[in-house]
Amino acid sequence: MSSQLEKVKELIDFRAQARLGGGEKAIEKQHAQGKHAVRERINMLVDEGSFEELDMFVKHRCTNFGMDKKQFLGDGVVTGYGTIEGRLVYLFAQDFTVIGGSLSETMSAKICKVMDLAMQMGAPLIGLNDSGGARIQEGVNALAGYSEIFQRNILASGVVPQISGIFGPCAGGAVYSPALTDFVIMAKGISYMFLTGPKVVKTVTGEDVTQEQLGGAEVHATRSGVTHFVVENDRSGIELIRKLLGFLPQNNLEEPPIRENDDPIDRLEDSLNEIIPDSPNKPYDMYEVIGLIIDKGEFLEVHADFAKNIIVGFARMNGRPVGIVANQPKTLAGVLDINASRKAARFVRFCDAFNIPLVTLVDVPGFLPGTGQEYGGVITHGAKLLYAYGEATVPKVTVTLRKSYGGAHIVMSCKQLRGDMNYAWPTAEIAVMGGAGAVEVLYAKEAKESDDPAKVLSEKEDEYTKTFANPYNAAQYGYIDDVIEPRNTRFRVIRALQQLSTKKQVNPPKKHDNLPL
Ligand code: HXC
Repeated sequence: MSSQLEKVKELIDFRAQARLGGGEKAIEKQHAQGKHAVRERINMLVDEGSFEELDMFVKHRCTNFGMDKKQFLGDGVVTGYGTIEGRLVYLFAQDFTVIGGSLSETMSAKICKVMDLAMQMGAPLIGLNDSGGARIQEGVNALAGYSEIFQRNILASGVVPQISGIFGPCAGGAVYSPALTDFVIMAKGISYMFLTGPKVVKTVTGEDVTQEQLGGAEVHATRSGVTHFVVENDRSGIELIRKLLGFLPQNNLEEPPIRENDDPIDRLEDSLNEIIPDSPNKPYDMYEVIGLIIDKGEFLEVHADFAKNIIVGFARMNGRPVGIVANQPKTLAGVLDINASRKAARFVRFCDAFNIPLVTLVDVPGFLPGTGQEYGGVITHGAKLLYAYGEATVPKVTVTLRKSYGGAHIVMSCKQLRGDMNYAWPTAEIAVMGGAGAVEVLYAKEAKESDDPAKVLSEKEDEYTKTFANPYNAAQYGYIDDVIEPRNTRFRVIRALQQLSTKKQVNPPKKHDNLPL
């Protein structure tokens, strides 16, 4: 064999060695836990044959605690670029089979390289996380490595979409970096997120807790809201990443991708003319309304299990991606509270950052009152949503279906928060508060002094309802641009979005805003 051929063979051997990561046994262990190996994940993520790997020959430089004898080609992360539906993406995928995917200084350099490329090329960054966090043996060098990543996550925020799949037990820096990205996806039974793992928790606090209890997918989907999506396994998580990217532009200077649409834009939905129950306290399902007005009913919901009183997610209208924000009367009567405000504010800001128009469907009785909410800071958290809508410069189309009361009316993309087209159904009620509450405030004294307090209050409530429980009062001031037939909502919203597609609006120049955090 010629010496050149020998060198080529050596290269091929090195590559094979790198592709094995922590070795066949360790890969088998991953499989036994229902997890795919790192390169299997990458193959599922990108278009076939499109992946170009970088830095396969990188090795860590640590010599502490016998680490010089624990060497793996490529270290604990695979990085590179490829395409998804033909569009460029950069990615890193941590390999748990190599020292628990823990982050070394050199792994950080690999990840930072693709982050820098993603920024320069204006392409999304995808992280598949499966890591025990900072590599303990490397001490401050590992911490410095994470800091470099965090800094890039922060600078990339609002410039290119950043998506984090959590597909293993992730701790420390391996969760803070995802927390800085736009979307977090967890898979049931294999994904965990915590600042410190159960072993460290036990040592420090004495608390016995399983990975699932501490930071399983369900905990973060329903209680903390840290994860935006929960899926059955890493394969479906990766499919979701591909689907999600289909709604997003490559970067903040581009428009989201428009698909061909064969769903008629003037499709009339007669059932919407009868969907609002006669009793104002009876709920209906906002998902039905969303499903009927968007293209083919295809809705990609975000944060589906968190703060169910508000619904957010992506859809297309005449092929054009939109962000839907809708109160859900079926859960807590659609009231706004701390978690609903946080959830929707984050979504509105994402859509605004990436030029995705907002369609807001309103049926909101107000903010949830009480000490629980006040002590938890509902004023600040509610202000986040108010702020998010008020600063957003993307096209904003609002449809008020039923209730729209008080502060919640303002927050939900009202006209004065630069709502571009504000429509209402004939069933809309736009007022400072509901009838019963209003007459209690205005006529309590009069009722108390009368022989029949209940009669006084009910008469006054009727009068109040007649005056305010309609859309025409707001429409007479131009706060509502038109009262529309419910069955024609799809057409009217699409027409509004078409009209607004060239919208240009800029906020005053500033270093950055001071969003109430
Ligand atoms: C070095 C690590 C490691 C780490 C895991 N390993 N985490 N090595 N540094 N951070 C190694 C283990 O020693 C083990 O090596 C292999 O990876 C697999 O780990 P196991 O513990 O056997 O796996 P499992 O039982 O599945 O538990 C996974 C885990 C646990 C929950 C992630 O390993 C764990 O609790 N790790 C520590 C997590 C943590 O507290 N990290 C915080 C780091 S501080 P062998 O050789 O036995 O196979 C941090 C700060 C950043 O990240 C800044 C934040 C703001």
